[in-house]
Amino acid sequence: MSSWKNLKNVLGLTALDYPVPSHANTFWYSLGGMTLFSFVVTLITGAVLTQFYNPAPAVAHASVRYISMTPGLGLIRALHHWSANLGFILLIAHMLRVMFTGAYRTPRIVTYLVGVVLLFIAFQVFFTGTVLKWDQEGYEALAHFVAANKLLGPLGAIFQEDFTLSTSMLARIFGLHVAILPALLIILIVLHVFYVKHFGVAPKPYQNDADYQTSLGSGATFTKHLWRLSIYSLIILIILIGLAYLFPPGLLEVPKPGVEMTKPPWLFWIFYPIESALGIVGILLGSVVVFIGLIFIPILGLIIGEERTLFRVVNVIVVVGFIAWLAMLIITYFSPTMQHL
Ligand code: HEM
Ligand code: HEM
Repeated sequence: MSSWKNLKNVLGLTALDYPVPSHANTFWYSLGGMTLFSFVVTLITGAVLTQFYNPAPAVAHASVRYISMTPGLGLIRALHHWSANLGFILLIAHMLRVMFTGAYRTPRIVTYLVGVVLLFIAFQVFFTGTVLKWDQEGYEALAHFVAANKLLGPLGAIFQEDFTLSTSMLARIFGLHVAILPALLIILIVLHVFYVKHFGVAPKPYQNDADYQTSLGSGATFTKHLWRLSIYSLIILIILIGLAYLFPPGLLEVPKPGVEMTKPPWLFWIFYPIESALGIVGILLGSVVVFIGLIFIPILGLIIGEERTLFRVVNVIVVVGFIAWLAMLIITYFSPTMQHL
């Protein structure tokens, strides 16, 4: 027996040699794993940053400046920034793949719903990270967050400045960003992947049972999936290092309370035009519309039995939704900074 085979046996890795359908080993069906890899880079670099970041409001900005100016640490910060951003681009691509291939249908509804909660938590992690920079952008992001929570009454009371006098809002956001939210994210990812394993990868669109079984016997295995994923992950890592070197994230000035002169990071641009039209309530309304839109897709899967009709309807909704999202990004990019508070 070769030494590699021996090592596989000793480590129990042969358990990963189970068959998967051949389409599971393509690029499109690896996007979830690639998202995971990018976020693992974010988690590891975040753990390093935490050793140098100081969440006391008076010195937080200076600590981020110190991180940025220190060789090596600046690169870790840039990797944290870029892996978070690239992770979201991969996440959006993964969602589009799931929607276009009909993977939201029974029995994978729970996998999909756990995915929606994951998306919500990942948004919150990104948001709290932005606040931690404690520059003008971070300060304004926090002011919007507090104002939106105020509209929720007792439900948003925990995110008000006066909820506790023993510590600062920034320190509490720090706790959320480095402990509570990552813990939730990890638990949900484990649950998500558990369901993917339990139900197996969904059949391709219009693939019948017999073809699915044939594809399962085609020699494709999960081990091969992992090898392919490792190559994609290596490419992601090279791209991340390149981006981190070439485009290190900026840091604006120490925040000036009471003024609004920045736009949020691109991820939140979807809400910016709604907020400009309706005020802070627009953030809440926008989030509810996105959430209902996402939940609506598996519900359509339950209502429309005929596969071809279902795919046509969902494809139209997803394409229209995607174009609307791009339109929001373009509108926000070209619109002037608005006063929302
Ligand atoms: C942090 C975020 C996420 C991670 C790390 C993640 C990871 C994964 C992985 C590794 C898979 C296995 C197949 C593949 O790679 O395509 C998968 C499948 C799946 N994901 Fe996600 N996912 C995330 C978010 C989401 C979201 C937001 C949704 C939906 C709104 C979603 C819905 C699904 C569904 C339905 C499957 C099963 C696909 C199939 O059987 O073909 N995921 N996910
Ligand atoms: C998927 C998980 C995560 C995401 C999406 C995320 C996202 C972000 C973002 C967008 C920033 C602002 C970066 C910038 O533009 O400069 C940030 C900052 C920060 N993050 Fe995270 N983060 C994640 C996990 C973590 C974890 C697990 C830790 C610690 C254990 C951490 C620690 C920090 C620290 C200390 C900062 C402030 C320093 C700085 O701004 O460079 N992050 N994060």
